[in-house]
Amino acid sequence: MIAVVTGVAGFIGSTLARELLERGYQVRGIDSISDYYDAALKYSNLEKLNHPNFEFVEGDLNSLDIQSLISDAIYIFHQAGQPGVRKSWGDDFGTYIEANIGATQRLLEACKVTPTVKKLVYASSSSVYGEAEGFPTTEYSATKPRSPYGVTKLAAEHLCSLYASNFGVPTVSLRYFTVYGPGQRPDMAFTRFVRAAVLDEEIVIYGDGEQIRDFTYVSDIVAANIMAAEGEQTPGTVYNVAGGSSVSVLEVLTMLREISGKALKVRHEQVVAGDVFRTGGATSKIQEELGWSPKISLRDGLDSHYQWAMASFKNLPLSGDSSTSARMNQVV
Ligand code: UGA
Repeated sequence: MIAVVTGVAGFIGSTLARELLERGYQVRGIDSISDYYDAALKYSNLEKLNHPNFEFVEGDLNSLDIQSLISDAIYIFHQAGQPGVRKSWGDDFGTYIEANIGATQRLLEACKVTPTVKKLVYASSSSVYGEAEGFPTTEYSATKPRSPYGVTKLAAEHLCSLYASNFGVPTVSLRYFTVYGPGQRPDMAFTRFVRAAVLDEEIVIYGDGEQIRDFTYVSDIVAANIMAAEGEQTPGTVYNVAGGSSVSVLEVLTMLREISGKALKVRHEQVVAGDVFRTGGATSKIQEELGWSPKISLRDGLDSHYQWAMASFKNLPLSGDSSTSARMNQVV
């Protein structure tokens, strides 16, 4: 059974691919190795996928011959995309359009003429809700993204639903709520926080730290992907995938102080445009239809994330040393 994972060198894609290999799938991973963050981290993720049933294709979905890459696949896990809520303004927006909308449309066109594909699971985002109209936010709530990134994630989600309703492409979209855990992207809050804790560096909080997120552990996201692929649902279905925590950034730091035993150095900066104040997803739909529920509590998940940071960052030179990221990749 062949599963295609796009964005396989990223945090979620590589974690998902590892689990699929363990479950006996043959995995064809695709990644363009974009420059959003240090490519060495992505190659290090790929090294952990060294397995006889893993095949890697380096390339951009906007130019690859996708049809031939999916011709023998049963499931496609579309994790590729340009991430980052706070970076999607200005000239960068073109990259978000191409990577998030254009690439998804090409993938859907290929799926349209490949009937062997039983499921296309699209990695959507809680950012489609913007400042949500209520909590916990259900899939039927209004979608009003607050960042250009969210606009592109929502547009691609609409494309998935359109190809499902017009051509029967078996898509399912998973709206991920702030995913964390070992290997999380270096620009995201938890990796910044645990790294700073390990290295006794300053933590930067955007705004007063009262903003709330429904943080979701990566193994729960992986489980939701596999259940969505293997399960039955109407083509074009959308599910929230949320960890159920809904805590503020300040509460996260209190927990991190307890876990690390360190007094953290914290500095506040201005809120960044595009950031929403609160996310919190209702997960009754995916629970009822697929039997999914989050298994990892925030405390346990943050503990694992911190342990990973201890193993990855503790021998690093002080920040400012240009070899930092290279050394970091040797130990992650
Ligand atoms: C994350 C991902 O980056 C998006 O790709 C994803 O689509 C989104 O979750 C989602 O759930 O839809 P975000 O919630 O901003 O976006 O994730 P973090 O980078 O972990 O930030 C969480 C909170 O911490 C935000 O309020 C942010 O402002 C804050 N933060 C982040 C800081 O205070 N300091 C930092 O250094 C980083």
